[in-house]
Amino acid sequence: MAPMPAPAVALAVLVLLSAVPGYFSDDLNTDAQALQALRSAVGKSALPSWNSSTPTCNWQGVTCESGRVTELRLPGAGLMGTLPSNVLGNLSALRTLSLRYNALTGPIPDDLSRLPELRAIYFQHNSFSGEVPASVFTLKNLVRLDLAGNKFSGEISPDFNKLNRLGTLFLDGNSFTGEIPKLDLPTLSQFNVSYNKLNGSIPRSLRKMPKDSFLGTGLCGGPLGLCPGETALTPAGSPEVQPAGGGAADAGGASSGTKKKLSGGAIAGIAIGCVFGVLLLLALIFLLCRKKSSSSTPATAVEKGRDLQMAPMDMEPKGQNGSAGNGAHVGAVAAAAAAAKTGGATGGSKKLIFFGPMAAAPPFDLEDLLRASAEVLGKGAFGTAYKAVMESGSAVAVKRLKDVDLPEPEFRERIAAIGAVQHELVVPLRAYYFSKDEKLLVYDYMSMGSLSALLHGNRASGRTPLDWETRSAIALAAARGVAHIHSTGPTASHGNIKSSNVLLTKNYEARVSDHGLPTLVGPSFSPTRVSGYRAPEVTDIRRVSQKADVYSFGVLLLELLTGKAPTHAVVNEEGLDLPRWVQSVVREEWTAEVFDQELLRYQNVEEEMVQLLQLAIDCSAQHPDRRPSMSEVAARIDEIRRSSLGDRPATDSAGEGEEPSL
Ligand SMILES: *[C@@H]1O[C@H](CO)[C@@H](O)[C@H](O)[C@H]1NC(C)=O
Ligand SMILES: *[C@@H]1O[C@H](CO)[C@@H](O)[C@H](O)[C@H]1NC(C)=O
Ligand SMILES: *[C@@H]1O[C@H](CO)[C@@H](O)[C@H](O)[C@H]1NC(C)=O
Ligand SMILES: *[C@@H]1O[C@H](CO)[C@@H](O)[C@H](O)[C@H]1NC(C)=O
Repeated sequence: MAPMPAPAVALAVLVLLSAVPGYFSDDLNTDAQALQALRSAVGKSALPSWNSSTPTCNWQGVTCESGRVTELRLPGAGLMGTLPSNVLGNLSALRTLSLRYNALTGPIPDDLSRLPELRAIYFQHNSFSGEVPASVFTLKNLVRLDLAGNKFSGEISPDFNKLNRLGTLFLDGNSFTGEIPKLDLPTLSQFNVSYNKLNGSIPRSLRKMPKDSFLGTGLCGGPLGLCPGETALTPAGSPEVQPAGGGAADAGGASSGTKKKLSGGAIAGIAIGCVFGVLLLLALIFLLCRKKSSSSTPATAVEKGRDLQMAPMDMEPKGQNGSAGNGAHVGAVAAAAAAAKTGGATGGSKKLIFFGPMAAAPPFDLEDLLRASAEVLGKGAFGTAYKAVMESGSAVAVKRLKDVDLPEPEFRERIAAIGAVQHELVVPLRAYYFSKDEKLLVYDYMSMGSLSALLHGNRASGRTPLDWETRSAIALAAARGVAHIHSTGPTASHGNIKSSNVLLTKNYEARVSDHGLPTLVGPSFSPTRVSGYRAPEVTDIRRVSQKADVYSFGVLLLELLTGKAPTHAVVNEEGLDLPRWVQSVVREEWTAEVFDQELLRYQNVEEEMVQLLQLAIDCSAQHPDRRPSMSEVAARIDEIRRSSLGDRPATDSAGEGEEPSL
């Protein structure tokens, strides 16, 4: 690098300083001047209150904090014309800029890059044109960008990837052309490019978005169905099968490898198809050979193995316990065969042991269960869950435990404690089966699946959005269920609270499921991944305290409010630490950035949402002593709900995705 002569350096510094005007001396006066310049350019007749006899911070649409203008909201204010250059850029403390529903034309000025604090830009429904300027991509803190309903053109820039906090990107109703670049934005939850002149294949990272994010375009792939030349083996609609917030904690290397290969494209898809074909064939041959070779085994037992039918391949998380992985169906056959074998070999001396009212008159026996058709519901850390439909037509959920090496007396003692919990808000453990090689747990089958599937399942397919009333009712029922479990003894805990263990009845009433399972696994149990729900102090998942339950419940509340799943992290790698993420957003400002759009869109309950958010944050405190007790949590949710169900002002314009001021 050639050394610069001194005067040139001085000049460079000067230029730099003037490019960052008033870097050291910005104040409310600077802001007021800029606002006046804005008014004379686009709002002369529109903003009568912007006059010198009114303090700047009381001007229409202006919000101040610590003596600076931090928000400018002029929705539908009758602004007209082109935004001048070097005006908005002087509002250097600005965090929210809303000019939606005006008649603004021309390009977005370049000097927005001088607004490092900017979190939200709402420019929708104007007549802005030109390309999205590079200055926008320097706004590192941007969380919401709504440019819908304008006349923007050009290609969608891959530079959107630089906005790595972006949660909302609305570009629909413009004239963008070309293909969508590969966008990899970790927190992007809302995306819309409908009604643009786009074509080509939807990039993989965006295929989880619903169909109506891509209406009226020439795009293909993902929710829009196969692109020409794509094979059906790349599962359309769910190219990235995401464990629905919890379930597949133990899927381990096999399934993540599968995922990687799948994203490799159609060829990999075919290869995987072949592998599974071969596996299925092997499983079949294995079963047939068994039938031949084990003529000494009672025929009925083998018959039973064969009678277990396989459900059609279904990649959608089905509930009960998260997502169904690929290999699971092969597993179903093996499980059935193994269970049948042990059942048969011991001549039926092993039985299902029932709990509660059913203990007196068992409604079905092991034979019925083995004759049932089985379908994999999901794989969890403690085993695989099946839906078993018996010949009588009734369905139960069967959990096949793995890694249980407790001695029989100990197992029976602990399972009795689990079975003793009978409460209307807890999914009852009806029965269990114990042999040396097989441990089966039988629960009521819950047809609506899990909260996880409901929150993170495909939002496109006409699913009813979860409103505040439903979500807060789920929170309350789950809290009461867990509180009941805690009330059964000072060390009684659920041990594995997560959204895939909150199941729903037909009326979307919540029931807590799978409590106490960690107490059943042996010391050899070692999860390969760390659950995003696990409290920081928990080192042994077999001993989870009540306060650790409260932490997990706090994460569950955050999930309900944000719509985001706390992802599992492979050991030593980072997943989304939901509590930390929420706190980082909330610390800076109490905005609605964290909330699920589905919640904001339909009702006017921000205050209650913020209260519940505060409770969630209290629950997920790092230090156990600072967390409330579960019964306290239930009482507080009840209170919050009561206040929200009282008189409530009618919903207003929240519809445009504007964040309400909190
Ligand atoms: C913006 O700030 C610069 C430097 O402080 C100043 O020279 C300029 O007049 C300001 N522009 C407006 C429109 O206030
Ligand atoms: C200044 O704004 C206030 C409203 O905030 C209005 O009542 C007043 O008439 C305005 N004054 C002038 C001179 O326009
Ligand atoms: C998209 O459209 C443009 C112009 O209409 C065309 O040149 C390009 O080949 C198209 N790309 C795809 C993938 O269809
Ligand atoms: C995307 O925008 C279009 C209108 O521009 C709307 O019909 C569609 O529902 C939106 N989709 C999503 C997912 O918001």
